[in-house]
Amino acid sequence: MPPRPPAASTLADLRAVVGRAAALDAIADVAPYVEDFRGLYHGTTPLVLLPASVEEVARILAICDRDGVAVVPQGGNTGYCGGATPHEHGAEIVIAMRRLNRIRAVDVANDSMVVEAGCTLAAVQDAARAAGRLFPLSLGSEGSAQIGGNLSTNAGGTAVLRYGMMRDLTLGLEVVLAGGRILRSLQPLRKDNTGYDWKSLFIGAEGTLGVITAAALKLFASPADTATALAGVPSPAAALDLLMRLREHFGEAISSFELLPRRAVELTVGLVDGVANPLADDAAPWFVLVEIGVSRAVTDPTGRLGEALASAADSATLSGAVLATSAAQAQAFWKLRESVPEAQRRHGASLKHDLSVPISAIPRLIDLGTALIARLVPDGETIAYGHVGDGNLHFNVSQKPGTDRAAFLARQAPLQAAMFDLTASLGGSFSAEHGIGRLKVEELERRTDPVELELMRALKRTLDPKGIMNPGKVLR
Ligand code: MLT
Ligand code: ZN
Repeated sequence: MPPRPPAASTLADLRAVVGRAAALDAIADVAPYVEDFRGLYHGTTPLVLLPASVEEVARILAICDRDGVAVVPQGGNTGYCGGATPHEHGAEIVIAMRRLNRIRAVDVANDSMVVEAGCTLAAVQDAARAAGRLFPLSLGSEGSAQIGGNLSTNAGGTAVLRYGMMRDLTLGLEVVLAGGRILRSLQPLRKDNTGYDWKSLFIGAEGTLGVITAAALKLFASPADTATALAGVPSPAAALDLLMRLREHFGEAISSFELLPRRAVELTVGLVDGVANPLADDAAPWFVLVEIGVSRAVTDPTGRLGEALASAADSATLSGAVLATSAAQAQAFWKLRESVPEAQRRHGASLKHDLSVPISAIPRLIDLGTALIARLVPDGETIAYGHVGDGNLHFNVSQKPGTDRAAFLARQAPLQAAMFDLTASLGGSFSAEHGIGRLKVEELERRTDPVELELMRALKRTLDPKGIMNPGKVLR
């Protein structure tokens, strides 16, 4: 039986916490909050609340706990797995975090900052830049994605190779628990061995254990200079060979190493304004976008990258390469890469698989996965691209034009199972950086070690005994 919608008196109490202007209930006002970014889930809600302080979040969760009302925390609503979308039954309220958007502190000497969950990732990067530092998480959706969502999904992106994922970039958290208690642990310490690392539990928990309201984050020195290149390579194996060569030259100065198939480049150039292929004359089936960031001690990184690429070309590891000669050109290369998901969205429906394997298994994953898709999805085409330097591929399938959308989408379940089996056989993970949300709940149940699953359930029961925190996401 679906849960009952909240009582009118509960809704009135919740509205009173944030004030009329920050409590949305008209259909047109709640519409942006009840559908996910990919248009896969269409929920309903009687109320969207926009709290402006951690105390307001605490009062909301106290009321929800008292009256047994479920909540769905939401950031920029750019997730791929439906984790921030309410269910169809209309009994859940949405807490949208965008008004909790202050940069609370930047401590340059300590290389840290404290920011609220509703700050966009771009605003966090800007605040770090204004202080002469770098916050390195970088994603195509950074203009709308919020840091609370990045934390809740343990987001990755294009600089993980050098700086790690969101969990690696976090020093402390402030979290509101079910019931309204506030867990404050925002000390920006790099060393703190005082018991369990509880903050790690909330990162990647997708709002199922509590609502993250602020975080203490790590900052870094901005590279004094960067070099960016796009190279054409004959195969994924050649791309890995290139990565190994570049590692020898540049070590950890490689911040990004992204792989794009020719089809992704063609689609993106065709469907997104202002995107060009700087290697248009290169017939390569695959492209690699590489970025190096160096300290002042290293001069002329572009020249050095050029030399490294030239020596790789001599041994047929690459067919051609173009080096960015200005910041604008580097940005244009990045626009090509970061517009791939948008191009896929404009092209039609897609089936997404966010897979990671040991880097050495990438060529095999691409070969076997492509063959699997050709067999199971005759109305789709493989677009496998992404963060190959991290062993993470977005093994996506785009619907072929003129085919039936519903029939295509219905292939998700059997294809996903086969792709995840393949990934497991290569020692990989079926959720690299996008999370579980609603999309992969059954798979998580099926594929997770029973002891691990029981531990997760026990934690959920302890922190959320009434099951009101984003129910049906991650666990059911
Ligand atoms: C990206 O890296 O572009 C996104 O995480 C991936 C996607 O669209 O699957
Ligand atoms: Zn990605």
